[in-house]
Amino acid sequence: MNIYSLMARFFAFIALALLMYGFIIPSVGFHGTPERIKDSKVEDIPSYVYPLWNFYQKGRYFSVNSPEKSKGDLKKMIETSEEIGVASLPIWNFSLEAPNYPKEAFPHGLPVFIHFDGLSGEVHEMNTINHYVGMAHMERGGIYERALAPYALIMLAILLAFFIIYNNKRIDRLMIVPVCLPLLFMGIYAYWLYWFGHTLHGGAISIEPFMPVIWGNGKVAQFSTHAYPVIGFWLMVVISFFSLIAWRLKVRALKYQPIEKVNWVQHLLMFTVLSMGIGTSAYMLKTDIEVDIFGKISSLTNAPKVNEAAEMAVSEPSKSEKEAMQKERDEQRKEQDLKVKALEKRAGSAGKFKVSSMYKSNCAPCHGVSGEGNMGPKLVGLSRDAILKKLLEYKANEHEMHIAVIEYMSEEEIEKLAKEIAQFEAQ
Ligand code: HEC
Repeated sequence: MNIYSLMARFFAFIALALLMYGFIIPSVGFHGTPERIKDSKVEDIPSYVYPLWNFYQKGRYFSVNSPEKSKGDLKKMIETSEEIGVASLPIWNFSLEAPNYPKEAFPHGLPVFIHFDGLSGEVHEMNTINHYVGMAHMERGGIYERALAPYALIMLAILLAFFIIYNNKRIDRLMIVPVCLPLLFMGIYAYWLYWFGHTLHGGAISIEPFMPVIWGNGKVAQFSTHAYPVIGFWLMVVISFFSLIAWRLKVRALKYQPIEKVNWVQHLLMFTVLSMGIGTSAYMLKTDIEVDIFGKISSLTNAPKVNEAAEMAVSEPSKSEKEAMQKERDEQRKEQDLKVKALEKRAGSAGKFKVSSMYKSNCAPCHGVSGEGNMGPKLVGLSRDAILKKLLEYKANEHEMHIAVIEYMSEEEIEKLAKEIAQFEAQ
């Protein structure tokens, strides 16, 4: 073995190690976990998932609504139903900014991270906004790609191992795949962005079909958007670069050196790699069947779509019809403005406003998430004593609106709640 082929193997090995560390180990390990959390089958999550996920969370973004003490601890985050992203390295970041997401509360805007095998960040809040502009849910994007990614990554690892173990000019040419990995990702990502921008179902705010910005800044409705690659992408670029060097070195090595006969050590190594790859894939497939991934995909892709364009009359409208349509459009615009205002209000209160889960689950449905009033009156501005007095009164005379929620609260809990609500104004 000459120096070129030795170096070729060295670089390919580094590429393989990076691929394993950044993508394969976390995505295989975490496989099926988001589905199990969603289906409340937490007891099915294997115990190794917890330390694995926690290990990969260093420096990650957590939702502004996640309590400080549970951030990065999968067990606690599941208990308090926080948003949980996948473990593998994030590849692309997409974030929104608007005046109604104040910098103090959202220092990073409203970010969502795209991974090979899933999403992380403020997915829930982003879906609310998507809904307003009539865009599909984030989970709909790359739906097949995400499900297949861990399997494809294992095949890529097997290819790299083959390259390291054997000398086969024809199969070595397949190194073009890891070399093109960043481009491949960007192509698929761009396709889905196009799909999102052109599959609009008419939300509260109607926007024209558009191509979202792949890399850089853009604007959608009243939001500024930013999109740029993050650590996982740069790791892919490094993998691509090392694969290219390895491949060229090997070509060079084989030019000056006859290909040696393969021996049993090589076969044994390859057999080990293949068994591991097939075993892992079989294990993932078992998980996929358990969490019914196929059913989940088809229910997402078959979600009913409102295709208004197809339902519209094709004939040319008469003058009076045109006037009626114009009037309707004006009405719609007015309505949209109201909805935008509501959205802005909601967005403004989502991050900076911290309420206890006691308030959130018992009082917010009627009095609004920040006491602004909804079906029940506005609570902001009331004093602690006034609230306490009312609540005790409600409890004593079994007020029908409130008895169900305060019946089982102790006096102490009611006092705490009154104190909390009295401070809403200051927030
Ligand atoms: C089912 C809806 C509903 C729920 C749940 C609810 N409220 Fe109310 N609340 C109302 C309505 C309606 C009123 C007005 C009742 C009236 O004036 O007789 C009201 C009145 C009040 C008032 C008096 C406001 C004033 O201006 O005098 C206070 C204080 C209050 N609620 C606190 C709470 C707290 C705290 C909770 C949670 C433990 C809660 N409410 C849960 C519907 C609700």
